[in-house]
Amino acid sequence: MTDEPGRVIEARGIIKEYPYQGDAVRALRGVDVDVSAGEMVAVVGPSGCGKSSLLNVLAGIDPPTRGTVRLLGDDLYGLDEGARSRLRLRRVGFIFQRFHLLAVLSAAENVELPMAEAGVPKRERRDRARELLDYVGLGHRTAHRPPHLSGGEQQRVAIARALANRPEVIFADEPTGELDRRTGAEIIDLFARLNRQGTTLVVVTHDAKVAESAPRVVEMADGLVVGSGVRP
Ligand SMILES: Nc1ncnc2c1ncn2[C@@H]1O[C@H](COP(=O)(O)OP(=O)(O)OP(=O)(O)O)[C@@H](O)[C@H]1O
Ligand SMILES: [Mg+2]
Repeated sequence: MTDEPGRVIEARGIIKEYPYQGDAVRALRGVDVDVSAGEMVAVVGPSGCGKSSLLNVLAGIDPPTRGTVRLLGDDLYGLDEGARSRLRLRRVGFIFQRFHLLAVLSAAENVELPMAEAGVPKRERRDRARELLDYVGLGHRTAHRPPHLSGGEQQRVAIARALANRPEVIFADEPTGELDRRTGAEIIDLFARLNRQGTTLVVVTHDAKVAESAPRVVEMADGLVVGSGVRP
């Protein structure tokens, strides 16, 4: 496999099967994807076509059944689990389709968590958590726990958390799925701003507005990439 400078993601021959009732569901059937530094890519396609599966494989969350992924210059699944976790913690941000916030922690503590894991001192992470929650419009909700936040607010806490360690690449799975139009538009602006500052983004979305905001759209169907176009 080549290791082109400026390549953030290089995935080859990705097959993903999930064991299911003694059988296997094939969610990805041979996917190649390249993403360069500084790109913003939208991944679109019908429900069940494999978008979340692909994102999880690309981000180092779930190994493929077959195929290879280079992420930020490393052979992602050639690394041992500790090295892969460190890479994800320090250089990658992930926004899950279902938030994955910890219900027992406040919004601010949720945002602080990845910084604590990365060894950022308490005071610095408290200040940065507040700054990030301000950034996503939640400066007035820092002490609230997720069960006391709306879906859109939880989504924004999850986004703030993903930004905590200043990732070079952000993966987002339906980041505007729970948001009203206005908040959704704010999140799109936020992503565009991050992208202008040099962050690479890969965003799975059903939302035409999000897809329109991305210069490149990767279209999936039935476990395959069926189109990849750069907007003129
Ligand atoms: N843990 C699992 N066990 C068995 N099958 C799974 C599992 N996760 C996903 N699948 C199957 O793999 C296929 C792809 O799922 P995936 O979640 O990647 O789709 P998606 O494109 O993200 O869909 P959506 O837009 O609804 O989120 C689906 O048919 C799904 O049922
Ligand atoms: Mg999904």
